[in-house]
Amino acid sequence: MSIVFDENLRLGHPGIDRQHQEMLEQINKLSEKLTEGADDIEVRDVLDFLYAYANKHFFEEEKLMQSCNYYGLYKQQKAHAQFKQETQDLQQMLRKKRSSLDLAHQVETSLFKYFIEHIDGLDREFADYLKMNNLQAFKITAPGAPLKP
Ligand SMILES: [Fe+2]
Ligand SMILES: [Fe+2]
Repeated sequence: MSIVFDENLRLGHPGIDRQHQEMLEQINKLSEKLTEGADDIEVRDVLDFLYAYANKHFFEEEKLMQSCNYYGLYKQQKAHAQFKQETQDLQQMLRKKRSSLDLAHQVETSLFKYFIEHIDGLDREFADYLKMNNLQAFKITAPGAPLKP
């Protein structure tokens, strides 16, 4: 399974969009590795990178929310923690040597679904808040090319 980062997922804040695109690419890559039967080490590398990148993205997004006094911060923190947990669950499944088929299924039914719904739901609400209050000049930190695994 692979999901294209198209216009429907773009929220109009370049820093956030760039990081969302990178995260989606990593989830696509993970799904690809699992369906092509890559070995555990390759899968683990992608998964570990995704986990680290998700942490970085959520941390920066929350920091941006704090600096803009965003009312929805708490809800976002809870949602971000849930995504991190889902990624950790996958790491755990991999350590327990569950089949790639099981992991691929989990990526499709939880990670992809959750991430798309989060962008289109809570993150869109935040992007709209920035637009409505003319706060788009507030940038997410760490510009430049993201790290690759
Ligand atoms: Fe978010
Ligand atoms: Fe986000």
